Order: sequence, then C-alpha cells, then structure tokens
Amino acid sequence: MPNDAQAQPGRAPLGPGKPLVLGIETSCDETGVALSRGFDLIHDTVASSVEEHARFGGIVPEVASRAHLEAMLPTVKATLAAGNVRLADIDVIVATAGPGLIGSLAVGLAAAKALALALNKPLYGVNHVVGHALVDQLVHGPFDGPVLALVVSGGHSSLLVIDGPRIIELGRTLDDAAGEAFDKVGRLLGLPYPAGPHIDRLARSGDPATISFPRALTRPKDQARHAFDFSFSGLKTAAARWIEAARDDGREVPLNDFAASFSAAIADVLTAKTIAAAQHQGLDTVIVGGGFSANSQLRDLAADRFSAAGLKLRIPPIELCTDNGAMIAAAGAHAIRHGLAPSDFSIGADSSMPLTRLVA
Ligand code: KG4
Ligand code: ZN
Repeated sequence: MPNDAQAQPGRAPLGPGKPLVLGIETSCDETGVALSRGFDLIHDTVASSVEEHARFGGIVPEVASRAHLEAMLPTVKATLAAGNVRLADIDVIVATAGPGLIGSLAVGLAAAKALALALNKPLYGVNHVVGHALVDQLVHGPFDGPVLALVVSGGHSSLLVIDGPRIIELGRTLDDAAGEAFDKVGRLLGLPYPAGPHIDRLARSGDPATISFPRALTRPKDQARHAFDFSFSGLKTAAARWIEAARDDGREVPLNDFAASFSAAIADVLTAKTIAAAQHQGLDTVIVGGGFSANSQLRDLAADRFSAAGLKLRIPPIELCTDNGAMIAAAGAHAIRHGLAPSDFSIGADSSMPLTRLVA
C-alpha cells in the first residue's frame, strides 16, 4: 500500500468556520447525497433501491451495489444542481466508511475518493450509525455538551454517549435490531418488506394491552452485565409462536392489536433503558435516531417518559431518520468542528466499523 499521506491534501484537521460539505451515504439500499454548509443543510437527495429488494423479502447485497453504481453520479449531479453549488466550490468530501454492506460501502467510498482526489480536497470516511444521531444537529443545532444517543435501525440498536469527538458505547443489541425484529415478524404476517412502517400503521389503531410480550434483559439479575444492552430475538420468537398458535386454532391474527402489543414491548424496553442510561451517566439530553426512530409508538412513548424523567428529547424529522446523505454530511461537519483529522486515501470500507470510531 503506498504510504504517501504527506502528499495527500488536507490531512491536518480543517480550521474553524463553516466548510461546504458533500456527504455520500451508501451503507445499505439508499444512495444518499447531501450538501451542507457546516450544520446548515443545503440539499439532500435520496435514491432508493428498496423496491428491487422487496420481492426477496430483504436486501440483496449485489443488487444494492449495482443500484448504487447506477445512481451515484446522477444523484451527485442532482444535488449540486438543486443546491446551486459547483463541484469546485466544495471544501470537503465525506462518505460512509462503515458499518454496512461491504459492496455498497465500496461504491460510495470509491466515488468519494475519486472526487477528493480530483478536487484536491480532504476526505472523511465516517461511521454510519453515529451519523444517525449526529444528523439531529442539522435541525436542532450543534450539541453544546455530551449527549446520550439511542440509535435504532434495521441493523443496530445502540446506546452511545457522544462527547465531542469521543464516542462511548454503553450498550447494544445482543441479537436482532429493533427494525430487524419488526421486518421479520412483519414477514410472518405477510406484510411487504420493509415491514416496520406497516406494523407502525397497524399498531396505531390497536390495543397494546392485548398480548403481553416479553421484555428481555430487564430483570434485576440482568442489571450487572446487560443494564444497557437489548435483545429482541426472544420477543420475535414469542411473536412467531403466537401467530402459529392462532393459525393452528383456526383463529385470525388480530393485526392491529398484535402490532400494537408487539410495538409496545419494543418501545417500552428502548425507552426504559435509555432513561436508566441517561441517569447513570448524568446526561440530560437524549438524541433518538436511525430508521426505527420513525416509529410512532417509540416517538410517543419517548416524548412522555423522557419529559417525566426531566430529559430533553431531540429527535430528527422522519425524513432524516432513515438512511440519507445529510447524516453523513453532519458526521463530517461534527468531525471537523471537533478537530478530527481527515482519513487517509487508503482507507477501506469496514462492514463492522466500531461505533466508538467516528472517522476511519
Ligand atoms: O436506518 P435505516 O433506514 O437503515 C439501517 O441502517 O438499517 O433503518 C431501516 C429500518 C427497517 O428495519 C425499517 O423497517 C425500520 O427502519 N423502520 C421502521 C419504521 N420506519 C422504518 N420501523 C418501525 N416503524 C417505522 N415507522
Ligand atoms: Zn441506517
């Protein structure tokens, strides 16, 4: 591997000010490109290949990579045109380095490297999961101290402390992520992929007290080792057994009540553990982000419980909760604000990038 970091532009941290940032997201099935001036969002464009995966009931990695390759330059061009920005005016290129699907990540990162090289501008390869929390700064302003972040998506359910450039991972799911549990149970119910939004819609007119689903890792004996960890695979199995038993008895699954009970179990555990973590860390601000934070049961319960616990809730608007380029531009702006050095041009895509690492 050539070691010419000295010859690479801008390996020193960028100075203060508001750089014009191009953010590129390709960790899964959304090709997201955004422009921001520091934390001021200029424009955000998302091209999704989700419909190509729907008939397979999940993301097909090679289909996603090909779709990113096709969408990448048109999406960059559309974003520049909508933002009325010339490529030459951009100060820094930011792309998702991980975690995510390796082929998808490679397409975005390769595009970002080519742009940074051609424009002679610094490159930041950033963490997708942390970006889900950092994006809130585009809407509600820069964090003015350490915050607790609950990031819930199709791949992650994590509790992080974000303290400037430092990320501490307090807890994570030991098995399925919240969105993944929704998608898998939705499949059993015959709902289209991704099932999260469909279960959400059904749950709105259901009674959450109908079925008492398990709340894993919430017993006193779990406090020592797993106080801030999650586990949703037992809940998923309980839900699958319930559906099976109903069908064996020739009963219809009461979709609304089932969805409401299932959603309540997840929202209950997520919010209870987040409050416990904030109190344990002495933090008063909580960011909720990630695709699953679009979930209305989680939003409603978090609003009620956090305010009762004296916590300030910051949650991005729904269009910034699912994967997008704005979260990556925000992660770059955050890294620059806190003096982190850009990435070397030799960085690779890291499908299991540690959440404690903001910049690769
Ligand atoms: O963050 P994201 O767009 O992609 C990943 O990084 O995983 O999250 C996608 C996940 C999917 O599992 C989807 O079902 C879930 O977020 N999701 C929802 C809702 N909207 C999206 N889950 C529950 N309720 C929703 N309203
Ligand atoms: Zn995501």
